Amino acid sequence: MSRKATDIFSEWASIGRDEGMQKNHWKAVKNMFQTLIKEQSKPFSFIDAGCGNGWAVREMKKNHLCVEAVGVDGALEMIERAKKIDPNGNYIYHDLMEWKPLTPVDIVHSMEVIYYFNDPKKIICHIKDKWLKPKGKFIMGLDFYKENSDCHNWPKQLDTQMTLLPINQWVELLKNCGLKDVMSYKTNTTDSFEGTLVLHAKK
Ligand SMILES: C[S@@+](CC[C@H](N)C(=O)[O-])C[C@H]1O[C@@H](n2cnc3c(N)ncnc32)[C@H](O)[C@@H]1O
Repeated sequence: MSRKATDIFSEWASIGRDEGMQKNHWKAVKNMFQTLIKEQSKPFSFIDAGCGNGWAVREMKKNHLCVEAVGVDGALEMIERAKKIDPNGNYIYHDLMEWKPLTPVDIVHSMEVIYYFNDPKKIICHIKDKWLKPKGKFIMGLDFYKENSDCHNWPKQLDTQMTLLPINQWVELLKNCGLKDVMSYKTNTTDSFEGTLVLHAKK
């Protein structure tokens, strides 16, 4: 039987591997933040779904329009790391599917998380219905997708369940949750990397 992703990442945090992820993901997340912010003129609230050690929450908090930034993750050690680095930050230890904010937010961001779900449509619909305000924005980044053939062995390497879909099926999945203006693009593509797939949509 394969392992729970949250157990694996809790272990990673306890041996400092959260920092490697932060380093590897920052370039793509910086681009995703630019996509989010470029048409943002009003103050906004923000949740990072599957925040790891919370680094993207702390980055977004630097934006002067960001009035609230929350990180949620189901790996205990990740959340403990986040709270240790930023004791005044808002980091919540919870399974994403079982959690919702008290008040819906303007932006939900998620980097390298959604494919760990058996049924990605269920978590995306949950985020759309329970986390986002009307017209709220959703953005997610994925390095694990069908067109990136270098990643196909990750489930075996990590010994965990991962959902591998081609780009068009990710786009359809967001549309089938009722999200609007669904857009996909790749960022960070190099000679040796297919790029991070970014999906962006509005409620
Ligand atoms: C590859 S890491 C990415 C972490 C962070 N977004 C980053 O870029 O550094 C995936 C994260 O998703 C979290 N995760 C996976 N499944 C989850 C679930 N069902 N509920 C909450 N968190 C989950 C893991 O604990 C892990 O921290």
